[in-house]
Formats: sequence, structure tokens, C-alpha cells
Amino acid sequence: MSIFRDDVLAGQVALVTGGGSGICKGITEKLMAHGCRAAIVSRTQSKLDAAAAELEAKTGGACLAVAADVRDAGAVESAVDATLERFGRLDIVVNGAAGNFLTPAAGLSPKGYRTVLDIDAVGTYTVCRAAFDKALRANGGSILNISATLHYTGVPLQTHAGAAKAAVDAMTRHLAVEWGPLGVRVNAIAPGPIDDTEGMTRLMPAGMREAMERSIPLQRFGRADEIGDAAVFLSSPAAAYISGAILVVDGGAWMAGGMKLMQP
Ligand code: COA
Ligand code: NAP
Repeated sequence: MSIFRDDVLAGQVALVTGGGSGICKGITEKLMAHGCRAAIVSRTQSKLDAAAAELEAKTGGACLAVAADVRDAGAVESAVDATLERFGRLDIVVNGAAGNFLTPAAGLSPKGYRTVLDIDAVGTYTVCRAAFDKALRANGGSILNISATLHYTGVPLQTHAGAAKAAVDAMTRHLAVEWGPLGVRVNAIAPGPIDDTEGMTRLMPAGMREAMERSIPLQRFGRADEIGDAAVFLSSPAAAYISGAILVVDGGAWMAGGMKLMQP
């Protein structure tokens, strides 16, 4: 049972990068449960196929699985074309594709740093641009960038990811200003630590779970479906006058400094 009306996004089409796993699979499920048809996009076709079948079975909606690396502008354009061909429209774009690993800045090569900026920051721009050119410029719509809170306090071992997400935040505001007159709203969600995700299982130092949970004002990690609820809200008419916003969904974690416990 949802807090939102089941048909709040009825008839709309969403394209979600990173939608085959973790937080963005949770977002896709929520969008589909509220009436969207969806395309999920990432590098691995087999993973996407399995996720699309699961999402269709859970929601009764339609889900297209399209493999593309967001670092490949041609592949991204083809993914947007495939979405338009299958569903005939595109209204909502969620940029969740990202890459990350824990490393001290002193152990990071320029190539490693660039790789994360290429996926998170340039990839987000590439997807926004293709969706804007092929659909949103003419019809308006909503873009939702998945950011983080790492760069609010300078979390250790995350220089590359923090810089990439800071660029995503800036892009969110710039595009909101440039594309607002064309009816395109551009917002971001900054999740805190979300349970059962690649981001947390691989990036949380061993033995830190309990201490991290205690440090969060709401005393627990978040869930992918809670980020999904925020995505439904920001994509819905309830957010019709919201653009350029970065909605932090983290149980208060960053303010209390809990992310700093990532330091081993
Ligand atoms: N520490 C330091 N540098 C690292 C690293 C680590 N743990 N892991 C990768 N790198 C560096 C590599 O060393 C390489 O640079 P180099 O050739 O100078 O050494 C550079 O990053 C590119 O690595 P590569 O493995 O070739 O990139 P890729 O495109 O195959 O993979 C990653 C991208 C590294 C981001 C990979 O972790 C990934 O695919 N992640 C997707 C899933 C994910 O991260 N989910 C969490 C989302 S928050
Ligand atoms: P995840 O499941 O690993 O999600 C990342 C997704 O991006 C994967 O589905 C991956 O699929 C895809 N991807 C990676 N590189 C890609 C590329 N070059 N091109 C296209 N797709 C690519 O991790 P997650 O933890 O749920 O993270 C989802 C988002 O939330 C990310 O933006 C992350 O920064 C953000 N976030 C997460 C947390 C957390 O607690 N987990 C906290 C704050 C922010 P393929 O491997 O198939 O490409």
C-alpha cells in the first residue's frame, strides 16, 4: 500500500540509468507501481533482463531493458531511441548510474579519478542531453539526478566520488535554470547510507555497521523503497513547482557526521 495514489504517474514513461540494481531498481519499482512504463539502462544486459522481468512481475507494468554505457554517447542516444520506439514518449529521466570504490586520494591515479567523473558527472550530462534533445525539449518533463552527501563534509576515501557528485549537484541547478522555461524540472536526491545496496556492502568498512547506525539521528540505514518514495514525489504533480532542489534522504546522517565513520 502506497502513500501516493496508484495512478499518480499514469501514462508516463521513465528512463532510469542504473535501474537494474540497488537504489535505482527500487526507484524504478516505485515509478512503475504508480503507473509508469520504464526503460532501465546499464552496461550488463543479463542483469537488466533479470531486473526487468522481476519489476514487471512485481508491478504488472512494462519494463524495457537496454544495455548502454553512459560513457558512450552513441549508446546512450540509442537507448533513448529504443525507449521512444517502444513506448512512444519519455517524461521522466533518472540518472543513477555511478561507479565508486574506497581509496585514499594518495592511492588514486588520475585515470581512476577520471573514471568516476566520467561515469557519474559526464554520464549524467550525456543522458540529460540525449533525453532533452530527443523528447524533453519538445514536451517538458522531469529529470532526477541521484547524488550523495559525501561532498558536504569531505568524507575520507571518497575524493573522486565527492567531486563527481558535487558536479552532479551543480549540473542539477544549471539545467533547472536553462531548461525550466521549456517545462523541464531538474532535481536531485542525495541518499544517505541505504541498506542492501552495492554502495553500502562494498563501501562500508567491515565492522562499522552498528556504529554507523547509532550515529544516524534516525538510528538506522535507509531503504531503497524510501528513495523510491522521494522519486515518486519529485516526479509527481505534487512537485510541479519544485526545480533545482537537492532533496537529502538520509535520516539526518550527514549533519550528525556519521559518514565520517567511513574512515578506517
Ligand atoms: N582503488 C583505486 N583505484 C581504483 C580502484 C580502487 N579500489 N578500482 C578501480 N580503480 C581505478 C583503476 O585502477 C583504473 O585506473 P588505473 O588504470 O590508473 O589503475 C581506473 O580506476 C579504471 O578502472 P577500471 O576497472 O578499468 O574501470 P571500469 O570502467 O571497468 O569500472 C569502476 C569502473 C572502477 C568504477 C567499477 O568499480 C564499477 O564498474 N563500478 C560500478 C558499480 C559501483 O561502483 N557501484 C557503487 C555505486 S556508488
Ligand atoms: P549499484 O547497484 O551498483 O548501482 C549503480 C548502477 O550503475 C548499477 O546498476 C550499474 O549497472 C550501473 N552502472 C555503473 N557504471 C555504469 C556505466 N558506465 N554505464 C551505465 N551504467 C553503469 O549501487 P547503489 O549503491 O544502488 O547506487 C545507486 C546510486 O545511488 C548511485 O548513483 C550512487 O552513487 C548513489 N548513492 C548510493 C548510496 C548507497 O548507500 N548505496 C548512497 C548515496 C548515493 P552495470 O554494472 O550493469 O553497468
